[in-house]
Amino acid sequence: MTDVEQRPAPPGRRVRLAGVGSNIFTEMSALAARHRAVNLAQGFPDTPGPSSVTEAAVTALRAGHHQYPPVPGLPALRAAIADHQRDRYGIMLDPDTDVVVTTGASEAIAAALLAFAGPGDEVVVLEPYYDSYAAGVELAGARLVPVPLTGPDFRLDPAALRAAVTDRTRVLLLNNPHNPTGTVLNEQELAELARVAAAHDLVVISDEVYEHLVYEGRHRPIAALPGMFERTVTIGSAGKSFSFTGWKVGWATGPAELVAGVLAVKQYLSFASGTPFQHAVAEALRLPESHYTELRDSLRARRDLLVEGLGALGLRPRTPEGTYFVLADVRPLGAADGLEFCRRLPPRYGVAAIPAQVFYSAPEAGRHLVRFVFCKEEEVLRDALRRLAPLRTAR
Ligand SMILES: Cc1ncc(COP(=O)(O)O)c(C=O)c1O
Repeated sequence: MTDVEQRPAPPGRRVRLAGVGSNIFTEMSALAARHRAVNLAQGFPDTPGPSSVTEAAVTALRAGHHQYPPVPGLPALRAAIADHQRDRYGIMLDPDTDVVVTTGASEAIAAALLAFAGPGDEVVVLEPYYDSYAAGVELAGARLVPVPLTGPDFRLDPAALRAAVTDRTRVLLLNNPHNPTGTVLNEQELAELARVAAAHDLVVISDEVYEHLVYEGRHRPIAALPGMFERTVTIGSAGKSFSFTGWKVGWATGPAELVAGVLAVKQYLSFASGTPFQHAVAEALRLPESHYTELRDSLRARRDLLVEGLGALGLRPRTPEGTYFVLADVRPLGAADGLEFCRRLPPRYGVAAIPAQVFYSAPEAGRHLVRFVFCKEEEVLRDALRRLAPLRTAR
């Protein structure tokens, strides 16, 4: 039972977030700590981002930037975000009206859902999905309608997408590149999503926090497709792009009308977000291309190390095109249930991972899948694989 369940229901609408899934992260991290396990469960890097960006945060602190920033974010950061979207994707934004800085992408997701979905509305989401989506949809009082990514490569099924949309659908919530599968949506899939969004006049919330972690091809925001900018809120995160997950600086961009909706909610969630970190992220967004290339190349090498190692142990990992997650099928090891498998890993082998069933509305669908992260130093990944070596003979 969670704290939420134990409390008596308030007289108004009852918030039922139990079972939404995030408890598993707490459970696996506690197990990892108890058994001194290598933690490949939680998605944060074990090396800090660029030192020049850390220095920029220190400089901002020393310069006395301790008070509230403007609610939509520091003008310098909003300008840097607008330039980033223009230079990389050709998306033209007015930093005064089309950009809002949030407390991590998490706040942008919650604020957008609260702004654009309400009781009686349906939100179509690619499944499996990042666990905050279900919580956000529930807080908004709306209903989540999953569209499964199918097959061993977790691709969009256009027929399933069309079947999921009804006259109650208001929002299409996308995550591209996709956590936990590592899928990067291709041109046809994006075009299909755009077609459906336009045909049903949907607002698209596109969570693109892994935009710079793409190993095959290039990231393409759905907002860059013809006619899509007007209906899309695009979300980014300094945590993922610059490896400062604890700073919690994210942003939402899009047409003024939609960004105003996000801002209207955001001001009553956090009001504004950490001033010194905003100064630093404004500088991070001006880093040369080599920052992104190095991040990508280094993560690609670690991806290959983990995928090859898990495969050699007898699991069936999928090589992700993006993000820093690997989904592996544990059935070849004779395991039927990813949750049991993950509960056994720390005490028996000294490694922690996440059962992917927490990313599904019907856990059955993802029961055989386990998620490992590879945003850890190479030596840490090698250590984890060495610890897991007995799995090969445990079959
Ligand atoms: C798909 C996805 N969206 C959003 C977030 C949250 O990003 P932030 O830390 O910037 O709030 C995460 C973090 O893991 C994520 O995986």
